[in-house]
Amino acid sequence: MSLPDPEGLSRREYVKSLVAVGGAGALSACLGEDDDIEIPSGTDEFDDLPAGQHEWDSFFEADEHGNVRLPRHHVLAYLELNGEPTDTGRETVESALKTLERAYEWSNDGLVFTIGYSPSYFDRYEESLPESVDLPAPTTLTPLEDLNDDDLDTYDALVHFASDEPVALLEAELAMFGEADALSGSDAEPQNTDSDTVNGVTVEDRLSDVFDLADRRTGFFGAGLPTANTDATGIPDDYPIPEEAPMFMGFRGRFKKSQPSEERVTIQDGPFAGGTTQHVSKIRQQLDQWWEQDSQAVRVAKMFSPTHEREDRVGEYGEKLTDSPEVEDVVEQTESDASGGMVGHAQKTARAREDGSPIILRRDFDTTDDDIAGLHFVSVQREIEDFVKTREAMTGTDLPIGSILNNGILQYISVRRRGNFLIPPREHRALPSPRPE
Ligand code: HEM
Repeated sequence: MSLPDPEGLSRREYVKSLVAVGGAGALSACLGEDDDIEIPSGTDEFDDLPAGQHEWDSFFEADEHGNVRLPRHHVLAYLELNGEPTDTGRETVESALKTLERAYEWSNDGLVFTIGYSPSYFDRYEESLPESVDLPAPTTLTPLEDLNDDDLDTYDALVHFASDEPVALLEAELAMFGEADALSGSDAEPQNTDSDTVNGVTVEDRLSDVFDLADRRTGFFGAGLPTANTDATGIPDDYPIPEEAPMFMGFRGRFKKSQPSEERVTIQDGPFAGGTTQHVSKIRQQLDQWWEQDSQAVRVAKMFSPTHEREDRVGEYGEKLTDSPEVEDVVEQTESDASGGMVGHAQKTARAREDGSPIILRRDFDTTDDDIAGLHFVSVQREIEDFVKTREAMTGTDLPIGSILNNGILQYISVRRRGNFLIPPREHRALPSPRPE
């Protein structure tokens, strides 16, 4: 992929498209004239970092209602081991990841990341994962999906990088995968980059010493970004999405009360206690239908519930909601709303709650990868089964609803790929065996 032409693009569009391209050329274009961008440094006091790699929330900014804000830019790096796991390989991976922790503050302004391992990675070992880990191979989950074996992600590992600062993402990737790999899509000469250091920290080991970068997916989340990224299949030319909307479908979400605590999604027992599991689906969005066929009233009813629409609970993009999607009372009406002809996405999905709280922690973000409007649905949960239960509640095959057209947002999304990973606690994050000490 060649570098985008800045001509005619806003700064936001240009920067987002540079993250999508990746590599040293994109990094130097991103820095532009401004090669003294200050990104907060990390730490040598590794014990100060959380035991769970997925423990991000208390390091993130939150709004006045306590809703945590996910970073604005994301990269998913899918990796294949280029040999077998060895102790030397483990040391290399650990040293590479520590380089990033030294280089960047664990925050929105710095960089957060997780590394997870797939069922296929663990298949190479004779011993199996302990019972305390629920990590099935990915599979089709709804009658609406038409996935072949090739559509199920069986890469060995996945690194999810997230930051508000595109320069931090691009630099961290270069540090981990080196110019050869990261540059493979770019024809620009690197400038302003020094691949031996990352935010002033010397790079001694890279993930690419042990892994090959097999696939790279990117995306964005936050006010202003959907309106700045409209040049992809599935996005209407002129769509009335408010500037404040953080996602393509136009509504705020992931409120304090529609996300579980990190403790609820953390594995409690066995050698991987303190870790979690991750599900990632690659979803295509039919936004032209969403924005052109339907009125705002129908969009609110389909996304939240018919009651939300009647009582005007949501507003233009969710500004009337504070720390909750206010679904508690409408969950009970899910069946009767379905019989009445329309049911909302949040309403029926909230049927999977336990003790009043959802059981999956969502960290999904929009994308225009492959020049198609989509969403990388990333969630972490104690067991993959928690994701499956939640997805079943969302699919709602049990509901008395005649047509997919009025069944939440199902009509507007199609799943293209799925993958499951185990995110070990930090102490076992480097090429773990199924039974680490
Ligand atoms: C394009 C795809 C999707 C969009 C735009 C979307 C958007 C939303 C919105 C706006 C809400 C209500 C606000 C909130 O509380 O966050 C919501 C709730 C939720 N969604 Fe989605 N969603 C999508 C796909 C999915 C998928 C694939 C799942 C997986 C099961 C999912 C699970 C949930 C859950 C668990 C809730 C919270 C329900 C509760 O309050 O208990 N969503 N989503």
